[in-house]
Amino acid sequence: MVYTGVLLVFCAIFQLIGGQRIYGHIHGHHHNTQYQWSFHPISNINAEKESTLELVHVLFRHGERNPDADSLYPTNPYYNESNYPEGYGQLTNEGKRTEYNIGLALRRRYNHFLGPDWNIKYVEGRSSDYNRTKMSLLLVLAGLYPPRNDQVWSSLLWQPIPYNYVPRSQDKELFPFSGCNEKLMTMMKQLYVSPELAPYLERYSELFEILSAHTQRKMDIVQAFLLYVGFHIQEELGFPLEEWTKAVYPEPLHSAAVDMYYIMTNNTLFRRISTGYFLRKILADTKAKIDNVPSMKERRLYLYSGHEMNIATLLLSLDILKVSDVPPYGSYIIFELHRINNIPGLKLFYQDYKQNEPKPIKIPGCDYFCPYDDFYQLVEEILPESDADCYSAV
Ligand SMILES: *[C@@H]1O[C@H](CO)[C@@H](O)[C@H](O)[C@H]1NC(C)=O
Ligand SMILES: *[C@@H]1O[C@H](CO)[C@@H](O)[C@H](O)[C@H]1NC(C)=O
Ligand SMILES: *[C@@H]1O[C@H](CO)[C@@H](O)[C@H](O)[C@H]1NC(C)=O
Repeated sequence: MVYTGVLLVFCAIFQLIGGQRIYGHIHGHHHNTQYQWSFHPISNINAEKESTLELVHVLFRHGERNPDADSLYPTNPYYNESNYPEGYGQLTNEGKRTEYNIGLALRRRYNHFLGPDWNIKYVEGRSSDYNRTKMSLLLVLAGLYPPRNDQVWSSLLWQPIPYNYVPRSQDKELFPFSGCNEKLMTMMKQLYVSPELAPYLERYSELFEILSAHTQRKMDIVQAFLLYVGFHIQEELGFPLEEWTKAVYPEPLHSAAVDMYYIMTNNTLFRRISTGYFLRKILADTKAKIDNVPSMKERRLYLYSGHEMNIATLLLSLDILKVSDVPPYGSYIIFELHRINNIPGLKLFYQDYKQNEPKPIKIPGCDYFCPYDDFYQLVEEILPESDADCYSAV
């Protein structure tokens, strides 16, 4: 079952316009770049890079946000939702700018490839079933597709563009944490007490005790992760943390939070569930494009609006890099399909804002341009064969 979010498009964008940001300078907070909003066509700096390009998939994390209630605890002086003007879990203005800037960056990178106009066949947007990821997708689309030429319909330099999502409880691709919740939780509980992991997790027993004592919650690595995210956001928003947190934050709580990603990808079955369904979709759409399936003829871009978990588990499941932190707000991974010397293949890039442009990345056993068939073979093990990987008993 798939719902569309056109109405949300309207609500969120009018809010954005109300914030008067869209007409002025947009400050890229990560790297101090200023983007000048302009109607002029963007110069075609990437034409050469784009000449072998056939399809692009982008997975991005939402922007800066308020904490969710489950990242706080009732005795926290900043627990009350009235501290958060947009509500628990929602994007802040800074988060809106981050996502809008992704749209601008993609426009600069793919201007020639995408062409000036929007058409329903060119781009497919999909979000996880969270308000913050839906809003993030709208912001990326707003930066990417300002109306041009005949598509200008009002003085508003924005046009509505629809996107889809799957209800959270069924979303195997973008939110397996809920989509495959029962299976994942059972597997995690088994892993916690396994001979490989139990001795390792011993190091956090004191941490868990301290956290439990102050939050009145039963602790495990997932709960610790949620609290880490909450503390981090509280700091970003300028709300002082309680004195007791000094003993555990940032370390060892930060390490425990990052270890959750390693646990979510600790073996083939975990990787299949945490990333495999998403990867399977990317590869199926890529293959359809390679095979010139009619419905793909005009498709140029897939946008996926997700979470740090999607970015981290993808990087770890493909053994691309050792994740040592929570992936930043607005970080994104690009899959580009190129046809070079008549061989279709993938180029991957990661933008974590440690450099201006997304950096090329590769999977072990292949080059920066990885022929599709080789790529498929290298990742085949973590591609689920059916829904059973998600739903069956362990
Ligand atoms: C939260 O804040 C609102 C507004 O200040 C107040 O009316 C309400 O009582 C507070 N709730 C709690 C649980 O403190
Ligand atoms: C999204 O917003 C609705 C209210 O419109 C709220 O009920 C829901 O809990 C929110 N969900 C998330 C994930 O923030
Ligand atoms: C499994 O998790 C532990 C704890 O985070 C980690 O040290 C180890 O590298 C992980 N193994 C794999 C294969 O990801």
